[in-house]
Order: sequence, then C-alpha cells, then structure tokens
Amino acid sequence: MTLPCAELHLHLEGTLEPETIFALAERNRVTLPYADVADLARRYDFTDLQSFLDLYYANMATLRTAEDFADMTTAYLARAAAGGVRHAEVFLDPQAHLDRGIALETVLEGVSTALASSEREHGVSTGLLIAFLRDLDAEYALRTLDRILALGTPILGIGLDSAEVGHPPSKFAAVYDRARAEGLHCVAHAGEEGPPSYIWEALDVLRVERVDHGVRCLEDDRLVDRLVAERIPLTVCPLSNVRLRVVPDLAAHPLREMLRRGLHVTVNSDDPAYFGGYLDDNVGATARALDLTPADLRELAENSIEASFLDRTRKNDLLAEIEAAAEAMAPGGSR
Ligand code: ADE
Ligand code: ZN
Repeated sequence: MTLPCAELHLHLEGTLEPETIFALAERNRVTLPYADVADLARRYDFTDLQSFLDLYYANMATLRTAEDFADMTTAYLARAAAGGVRHAEVFLDPQAHLDRGIALETVLEGVSTALASSEREHGVSTGLLIAFLRDLDAEYALRTLDRILALGTPILGIGLDSAEVGHPPSKFAAVYDRARAEGLHCVAHAGEEGPPSYIWEALDVLRVERVDHGVRCLEDDRLVDRLVAERIPLTVCPLSNVRLRVVPDLAAHPLREMLRRGLHVTVNSDDPAYFGGYLDDNVGATARALDLTPADLRELAENSIEASFLDRTRKNDLLAEIEAAAEAMAPGGSR
C-alpha cells in the first residue's frame, strides 16, 4: 500500500500509453509510423531529453477531439487514484496542439471537463498548470496565455517545459510577470539537463514557487542552502531521470541525499507512459534502490501535500490521512 499523496509534476500528454496511442490513431484515422505497439515501445530507449521530446510530440498527432483530451485525462486520474494520489496539479502543453492545428478551445474543453469531475469520480482534487514550450519564443507564450485567460478556463498556474539547454528561464520574464499579475501560481522546469544557473534564474527572475526537477542544484552548495532556507519545493522524477540519462541508474539517484540535506523534495512521475511508471511505481522503485525508510516515505508524502497549492484546510485533512495510513502500515498497525 502507498501513502496518500499529491502529484505535482505530471504532463498529461506523457500519460498516453502505447495501446492508447494506437486506439486513438484508429479512432481518428491517423497513420502511425510504427508497425504495432511493440514496435512503438521499442523506441522508448531514450538517450537524452530531446530524443524523448521528439517521440512525445510526434505521438500527440493522435489527439484530435475534445473527447480524446478528456479520455487521456480521465485515464490518468483513474490510474493515479489507484496509486494513492489524492491531489494532482497537472501540466498541459497547449502550444504543441495549436501548432498542429487543434483549436485551443478543443484542448481546454476536453481536459477541463475531465478535471472538473475528478474529485467526484476518482477522489482526486485537481489543478491545471499551463506549460509553455521554452524552445519557442516568449511572445508566443504571452499570446497563448492571454488567449487562455480570455477563454476563462480555470487554471491554477503556469510552468515552463520542453528543451531546456539554451533556453534560460529569463527569456520568459514577461510571461511570468503577466501570470503573477493575474494571481496565477508560477513553477518552472530548471536543473534537469540545464545548469544550476537556470535554477537561480527561475527563482530570481521568474520568482517561481516550486522548481520542477532541480536535481542539478546539488552542483552548487550556495543554491542548496538557499533552497533549504526558503523551503522551495523540488518536484523530482526519479524514473524520468534514469530514462533520460540525467543519472546512470536509480541506485545513483540523489533523492536520498537531497532529503538528508533538508531539501523540500517530492516524488512525481513526469511522463509515466514513457518512463516506466506512475507515481507509486516511482516511489516503490526508488525506495528499493535507495533503501528509503518508512520515515523517508512519510516525509515525501507530507512534502507533496505541503508543496501543493491547496488551501491550509485541505492540506491538513490530507496530512491527517497520511498520518493514519502511516500508523496503520507500521509494525503492529492494523494493515
Ligand atoms: N515535457 C514533457 N516532459 C518533460 C520533461 N521531463 N522535461 C522537459 N519538458 C518536458
Ligand atoms: Zn516534466
């Protein structure tokens, strides 16, 4: 059994399982350049972030209607709920769909409809984070944000993803200023493949409340001290880091060191259909590889709730659920 927790770093488009990609292709009469599911799955041997992104964007061609976006979102929420997720703040890449000629309204309608019924249907509260593609220009991101705000779709905040190196956070200063002025939460991918200086920029220029990945902070002691002092959450994704060769294997993952140094780390799944597992799979595999203790696992679950953008009352309710579950799992407990 896994502890109740929040998922804070999850790309909805990264939840498209190979079988779903084939089913959507058939439904929408899209021709895939793969013979079958096994042929597609063989291509999941990534060498770096870009090699993954190439396949990730290509497979989005199968998403065409609001129903497709709703089905993708619902399938993720059902799977997340089964793995103990009680709250999910999920990324969506609208520009990747706009660039393929899919209307913004179609994308947002499908995703937001599925998110709106999630608490009732899956017991998972949700929030939507609009991610901007950092390898595209900042004006395009700003235009897209303005269009989304004009549509009135409920969104929790914004993020920054896609190819990191060569696209420093500071490029998007105006977008983040605009989002903050609208009362939106601000997060950004930084320090996945990019250097520690990108984490500094995300904090100082974008004024993010959380850093996505952030594992390369360990190369800069002064940065670690700051992240600890300001209690900035890092949404770490261990299986992603292995599959994208940020670390050689799980046993070499710095998660335990990060916990010991007092960093506010959480475990998340990033793109679970591509990287070998959902949040519970990430926690389980990392716990085994790094010999994490029950106290570590409880700290990770509690961190995920504290790092979320939930209000204090709901955080306290979920923390109480974690406490009850942890006690039930302890030796002599009821499970
Ligand atoms: N888009 C989807 N997954 C991503 C990741 N791990 N890093 C950057 N952009 C992404
Ligand atoms: Zn990510």
